[in-house]
Amino acid sequence: MRTGILKKYREFLPVSEFTPDLTLYEGETPLYFAEKLSQDLGINLYLKWEGANPTGSFKDRGMVLAIAKAKEEGSQAVICASTGNTSASAAAYAAKLGMDCYVVVPHEHVALGKLSQAVMYGAKVLAVKGNFDQALKIVRELTEVYPVTLVNSVNPYRIEGQKTAAFEVSEQLGKAPDILAIPVGNAGNITAYWKGFKEYHQKGRIKSLPKMWGFEAEGAAAIVRGEPVTQPETIATAIRIGNPASWEKAVAARDESQGCIDSVSDEEMLYAYQELAKKEGIFCEPASAASVAGVMKMRRQGKCGDQATVVCVLTGNGLKDPHTALESVQVKPQVLPCEKKAIEQLIHEQKAG
Ligand code: F0G
Repeated sequence: MRTGILKKYREFLPVSEFTPDLTLYEGETPLYFAEKLSQDLGINLYLKWEGANPTGSFKDRGMVLAIAKAKEEGSQAVICASTGNTSASAAAYAAKLGMDCYVVVPHEHVALGKLSQAVMYGAKVLAVKGNFDQALKIVRELTEVYPVTLVNSVNPYRIEGQKTAAFEVSEQLGKAPDILAIPVGNAGNITAYWKGFKEYHQKGRIKSLPKMWGFEAEGAAAIVRGEPVTQPETIATAIRIGNPASWEKAVAARDESQGCIDSVSDEEMLYAYQELAKKEGIFCEPASAASVAGVMKMRRQGKCGDQATVVCVLTGNGLKDPHTALESVQVKPQVLPCEKKAIEQLIHEQKAG
């Protein structure tokens, strides 16, 4: 029986008898063994499929707690800046508790599916002519003067909820992986996983800790470059972020775990994105594929040992961004007359080609 993360991990979370019993049945997502990619790469590759969450991304783990606590503390409204997934998740959980939700998103840089979600769940969507970093700065300022709760990952409850994914990985694998690879945008999730692994380690539930490998998009790689990127650009709109709010915490996760934070190009991400779909049957977001693209890069550079146990976090569902999917493939669906002959002929041609 699924219970949602507030019940399942109650002893690890700041919930009390006064916390609303909120859930859309987030968490308990699959950990797949990637048979073909493991073989191709010469490692043991596992994929934590966070696209299976109720709104299709890992954000639901943090949002269920952030929204429940906002309600518990008497708040009537929540607000966030978002590249899309945070807004979808905030809108869904706010809807469930009957709260108002305001989302501020970069105009024309949010995948269509995410925008549709926020609108359908009844959020007030404000599209601004600016990027995520600028939007986050504004909503932080607004929440200092208005009685509305900020539910971006600078809200500590978000990190608390998201750390449960590290618990699940540990349970599903029966140990900590050698390496945990994860996309990095605003750097909340790498912070959350590291906190989760450390807590499980302290409780004796895992004997070792993984190395944390974070991957930013090359055109938005502030941590790798060591300075904010004022005009971040990448096809992976989810991580089109030039000044991560949890920058220091991500660096701490990297250093404490003797891991790394590196970048991957759009081409590398799109390649991994297609490989995951074609070889493993998993359709994730382009940004999610940064984790696998990063591991491929490290393996090429000889920085990832033979047969290492690697878990890549696939943060969101590819259905959110159908445009990028259709643009990334060579062969587009062809329109034919509705005749058996025409279909037969095309199949023969494609087989021959
Ligand atoms: N992958 C996806 C699919 C995301 O939506 C995000 C962040 C990340 C990775 C990066 O996670 O920010 O914790 O380092 N999306 C945020 C949003 C910024 O607004 O939906 P992070």
